[in-house]
Order: sequence, then structure tokens, then C-alpha cells
Amino acid sequence: MDKHNEDLLFSEKMKSLSNEKTLDWIEKKSKDFVKNMTYYRCAIMEIETKFNVLNEEFSLEHDRNPISSIKTRLKGPLSIKNKLERHGFPISVDAMTENLNDIAGVRVVCSFKSDVYLLAKALLQQDDIELIREKDYIKNPKSNGYRSLHLIVAIPIFLAHEKHIMKVEIQLRTIAMDFWASLEHQLRYKKENEFTEEMMQELYECAEESDALDQRMDKLRVSADFSS
Ligand code: GTP
Ligand code: MG
Repeated sequence: MDKHNEDLLFSEKMKSLSNEKTLDWIEKKSKDFVKNMTYYRCAIMEIETKFNVLNEEFSLEHDRNPISSIKTRLKGPLSIKNKLERHGFPISVDAMTENLNDIAGVRVVCSFKSDVYLLAKALLQQDDIELIREKDYIKNPKSNGYRSLHLIVAIPIFLAHEKHIMKVEIQLRTIAMDFWASLEHQLRYKKENEFTEEMMQELYECAEESDALDQRMDKLRVSADFSS
């Protein structure tokens, strides 16, 4: 089922749970919610296109692709609700657009570490992009070894008669960083296995080793650029 149908189903469920009195209210709210999720989906499309364009341009000039893959995701209604509750915000469309930065997510997996910064810079200098927050977990890795460059940006989406500014969370990382983060995530969510100190240490060392590989590959890239 695609995301739009999932949102519609959610709003139908909300309606079926309510009694006659609250039906109108719920109907309006669920319409607002579905509309908003559509706007976020459009913002994801805009960001993804911008990266695809940069990838095309770069491959034209340098004969290689700085982007290995792009993954996008829209936060589900239940995780939106849970996050709002966790932070003590009201459950409303206004509260979610004001307070949550990660409803729309785009993950850009890059070939080399230098490509991460090149792409981030190229995106952020575009006229319609506003940087809201940057967290550089590559220069300052998390204590568990996690690395990625996180950007929260605001981007306009243009509809027939209106324009909306939407927030999108962008994570840029190398293939090696993505490999580590994906496996760490899988291990962390195997709830029956609590992480021991030894496992944390082992994971941290894996992160350091993949970073060493990234650095070696970046050096090779520089040598290859010079020799061509
Ligand atoms: P939250 O979305 O509530 O976590 O907000 P935040 O703004 O404090 O988070 P942050 O920018 O530090 O990280 C947001 C996202 O980055 C997470 O949802 C994950 O996708 C990813 N991330 C952050 N830390 C880790 C980590 O230690 N391991 C993995 N695998 N992913 C991480
Ligand atoms: Mg998040």
C-alpha cells in the first residue's frame, strides 16, 4: 500500500472510532493531516530531485557519481503521535509541523567522505533552501561511533494557488557509514539482546575501522583525480 493510501486508511480508522458528535471535528482534522502528509511527500520529492540533479551534473564533469543511493521516508502516523506525546506536545497538525523536524527524511549515501561535504555545500547554497540546523557527526562522531552529516532544511513547495515551506531532515553519509549505521540499528532493535559493554566497545571499534577505510578510499580518490 502506498503512503497516501496508508494516511487515508489512518484517517478512516480515526473516523470509525468516533461518535456522531465528534465526527465533523475528526473529519476536518484528518483531512488536514492527510493534506499535510502530502505536502511533506512533495518536499521529499523536491529534495530528492535536487540531489539527482547535482549527481547528474557531477557525473557529466567528473565521470563518476558522488551519490551511491538515495533513500526517502515519511514518518508514520503512529510514530508522529508517539513522538509528540514523548515531548509533551499536543496531538495536532500544528504541533507536528512546528515541533517535529523529521517527518520527511532523505538519506543520501555518498561514495566518498568528501562527496558528503561537496553535496551538502551545493544544496545549501541554492536560493530556495534555508538551513535550520546542522549536526556534523562526521567531524564530531557520537560516543557509540555513529557518523553522518545531519541537516534540517526548509524548502518551499509550490501548489496551484499557494506555497508551503516544509522542513526536511537530510542525512548524508558514506557507504561505510551507512553500512555501520544499518547494522548497529538492526542490533539495537533486537530487544532481547541488551548491549553489553564489550559489544558497545566492539561496535565502536568497527566504526573506527570503517572510518579508517573511508579515509584510505578518499586518499585513493585524490590520487586517481591527479593521475587522470
Ligand atoms: P530524534 O529524531 O528524536 O532522534 O532527534 P534528534 O534531532 O535528537 O536526532 P539526531 O539528529 O541526533 O538523529 C536523528 C536520526 O539520526 C535518527 O533517527 C537515526 O536515523 C540517526 N541516528 C542518530 N544516532 C544514531 C545512532 O547512534 N545509530 C544509528 N544507527 N542511527 C542514528
Ligand atoms: Mg528522528
